[in-house]
Amino acid sequence: MIETTWSEAIKRKYPEPVVLVVSCDREGRPDVMPAGWSMVTSGIPPMLAVSIGHRRYTHKLIEETGEFVLVFPSKGMEGLINYTGSCSGRDVDKFSEYGIETLKSKYVRPPLIKDAVACFECKVRGKLVTGDHTVFAGEVVASYVSEKYRDRLYNFGNNRFRTIPGE
Ligand SMILES: Cc1cc2nc3c(=O)[nH]c(=O)nc-3n(C[C@H](O)[C@H](O)[C@H](O)COP(=O)(O)O)c2cc1C
Repeated sequence: MIETTWSEAIKRKYPEPVVLVVSCDREGRPDVMPAGWSMVTSGIPPMLAVSIGHRRYTHKLIEETGEFVLVFPSKGMEGLINYTGSCSGRDVDKFSEYGIETLKSKYVRPPLIKDAVACFECKVRGKLVTGDHTVFAGEVVASYVSEKYRDRLYNFGNNRFRTIPGE
């Protein structure tokens, strides 16, 4: 082992799975952003957590509504990840600008994303401020998978996205 800087050592985490986090304002207008920092945090009940920067519009919306949809993006969504990660829902309606197709959720207001590998409707049950981000832990109240897309996208570093095809 050789000691190095945090920023050098943490590069070894790649490939990193990418998720999309869909949230809504109080009027039901949706926003979406990619996130690399997500995890499963409980089996019973099923829970998923995402770490969201305090300055993100998504942060404000999840704080306000206590709901989000976590999405595993499929092959072909590389451009969508780059677009939704490079602008803010504060300034632009990402869904209409990019033509993102949605499906209605059952128990939460943020919509599902059509043609994703999987979607999870989540209700926030806990949160933890960690430095400049907040970890929102959501109970999964509904889960979906695509009949068509199976392999999710990973970030291989420097926003190079590819799938790791299954068997
Ligand atoms: C591949 C990728 C992963 C990202 N991961 C995170 C993350 O885990 N947490 C976070 O707060 N921002 C993350 N970002 C940055 C946000 O997606 C970005 O700031 C976005 O524009 C915020 O949109 P919003 O203001 O509409 O919420 C990531 C961006 C990219 C491209």
